[in-house]
Amino acid sequence: MFDNAPQQRSRKSVYEQWVAHQGVPLIQGHYIADLKTTPVEPWARRNAAGCFINHDASNTSNDCYLLELAPGQETTPQHQLYEEMIYVLRGRGATSVWYDEHRKSSFEWGAGSLFAIPMNAWHQHFNASGSEPVRYIGVTSAPIAINLYGDPEFIFNCDYRFISRYAGEADYFSGDGTLTGMVWETNFVADVPNYALLAYPERGAGGRNIKFTLARNQMGAHVSEFPIGTYKKAHRHGPGAHVIILNGDGYSLMWNEGEPIQRFDWQPGTLVIPPNRTFHQHFNVGASPARYLALRFSGNEESKAAVRNLVSSRSVKLGGDQIEYEDQDPSIHRMFVQDTARHGVEVQMEEFVVAATR
Ligand SMILES: [Fe+2]
Repeated sequence: MFDNAPQQRSRKSVYEQWVAHQGVPLIQGHYIADLKTTPVEPWARRNAAGCFINHDASNTSNDCYLLELAPGQETTPQHQLYEEMIYVLRGRGATSVWYDEHRKSSFEWGAGSLFAIPMNAWHQHFNASGSEPVRYIGVTSAPIAINLYGDPEFIFNCDYRFISRYAGEADYFSGDGTLTGMVWETNFVADVPNYALLAYPERGAGGRNIKFTLARNQMGAHVSEFPIGTYKKAHRHGPGAHVIILNGDGYSLMWNEGEPIQRFDWQPGTLVIPPNRTFHQHFNVGASPARYLALRFSGNEESKAAVRNLVSSRSVKLGGDQIEYEDQDPSIHRMFVQDTARHGVEVQMEEFVVAATR
């Protein structure tokens, strides 16, 4: 079914062929205005509806999809040789996870919940409502796994149990965990929009942050919040950070060195995926703190050791990938001042931005 023979290789990778074979829409892009209203189509294999969202590096790093589950329905059980983090956009329900079907780990979730499926564990999602659909976004490492082995049948039909990640514990998704530095290691976060954060001055303007490692994954996540009337510092890093806006009203700027700056407006439900090594900067122009969840390809190991030495938090003048406020294009601050004024919000950047940039 999947063309992996060198002499007949098509232009599409095995992952891309697999996506096309799912029979649901594929959206290509780095910006989705509202994940809650993005069109989905019936997805027979999952007993649900869905769509895939692919970006510049989806074929080589991580991908993203939306799944919508009708009232009272459940997904077809599946297991998979790749990692998956799930954030619930709307609705409420439950998930069962297992290696041994006589020993399932089951837990309930609602809009705002975040969890991960342990590697290769069977899992099934249930919509607990008889009237409202469930919709979630899943970020996975399927592209690497499917392209590495070149055969999706293997990815979905391997019986190996990764007991170092999950050993069938009944309380696996209780929400307990361990905090190391800025990293909360857990398997379930019930309410990400209201989760308590830690001070994170490195990215500027009174920001707060927490990083999540879920289900012993290599992939990682973090939540960032910045106050009313502020914006963060520009920075860049590798591909695959899926930034989901949870609260607030604002915009992100994205640009490559020497190229025009592009603007992307956001509100709760917007998805922004900064391309590989593209500078990006987030601005809060609304009357409440702005908070986002980033579901990333990269893990949190380096954060545990030395978050203050991260290249993405070090000035470009010092060989890093962050633009300090005093070094940014002055038009960036002017645009922010105009936008906050339009929203009737007072700028709170005086202590962060030097006079030269005003
Ligand atoms: Fe970033």
